[in-house]
Amino acid sequence: MVVSSPSAVEECLTTNDIVFANRPPLTMAKYVAYNCTTIGTVSYGNHWRNLRRISTLEIFSSNRLNVFTGIRRDEIKIFLNKLYSVSSHDFDKVELKPMLMELTFNIIMRMVAGKRYYGEEETGKNKAEAKEFREMIAEEMLFAGTESSAVTLEWAMSNLLNHPQVLEKARNELELNVGEETFMNESDLSKLPYLQNIISETLRLYPAGPLLTPHLSSQECSVGGYHVQPNTVLLVNAWAIHRDPELWDDAVVFKPERFECTPGNKFLPFGLGRRSCPGTGLANRVVGFALGSMIHGFEWKRASDEEIDMSEGVGLTMPKAKSLEAMCKARNIMKKVLSSPL
Ligand code: HEM
Repeated sequence: MVVSSPSAVEECLTTNDIVFANRPPLTMAKYVAYNCTTIGTVSYGNHWRNLRRISTLEIFSSNRLNVFTGIRRDEIKIFLNKLYSVSSHDFDKVELKPMLMELTFNIIMRMVAGKRYYGEEETGKNKAEAKEFREMIAEEMLFAGTESSAVTLEWAMSNLLNHPQVLEKARNELELNVGEETFMNESDLSKLPYLQNIISETLRLYPAGPLLTPHLSSQECSVGGYHVQPNTVLLVNAWAIHRDPELWDDAVVFKPERFECTPGNKFLPFGLGRRSCPGTGLANRVVGFALGSMIHGFEWKRASDEEIDMSEGVGLTMPKAKSLEAMCKARNIMKKVLSSPL
């Protein structure tokens, strides 16, 4: 069953949230996700609840996200340094995707590779089991979080290059609220609503999970007046809802200003209900901090007069068909970043 309207989504993922909280046993998940026993692939029940509980406690709670602020700052600085090394004197061409993948991978890797994460307090047999369990969660986080965050950043920068007036407005917002004396920090994000709207608008038009992840019903139910059998695979077409001209003005136009009003249930890049993305808070921090830093630290322009080709490619997380090549040049403030300690 494919649903493509907010009211049908609400019936499936709010009214019938528990009914659709299972996952289909996909062949791929059998081979790459420990025989469908990871958070994203296991059906609803005690094992799933346990995995969600541990990952929330150790990774996603705001307390843990705050503990890991330094990791994100270090890795962003390393990333900015690499950009600087090619563009310190004049505009030079960069291919962003591999650098962004390295950035998001390293951030998540360092969050889940520490001693504390591996349950130092456990002893004996429990310790080995706890380690294996936590390794499985760590692998899943790298799988679910690395590419989704990196492609979102690549789509965001592509949009900015095709809409220089949006890029300029974002730079003005940074100048006004952060200034040129100190470099932006993750905590500045709350003062940068326009930057956040750029990311929302990117996720609206280019959601990394255009069909979310398939859900499976555990018992019969009714959706939109239709009778739905148990074991029905549900695909939620977030991509279509995000581009529906009945729901959005100028539906296919990139206009971050539209997020000055809260969009409500027609915007669901992270899904809805109990199987929605547990990494939302982390993704918002990483994508916001990285995009803000790229704008604060560098001038950006297209490699030619032609618009960036926004065609969608094929993949697990909706990639660009042609990876982005952009021109960038370091701004003066980058010298401050380089001279400050990590
Ligand atoms: C921009 C970045 C991201 C986007 C757009 C995104 C989107 C999504 C979507 C659409 C789902 C499926 C929701 C559903 O089935 O209804 C999902 C699930 C999930 N995401 Fe994300 N995600 C992002 C980043 C992350 C990050 C950074 C992590 C972890 C480090 C993560 C971990 C997960 C996990 C574990 C699930 C499975 C949840 C479950 O089945 O219970 N995601 N994400």
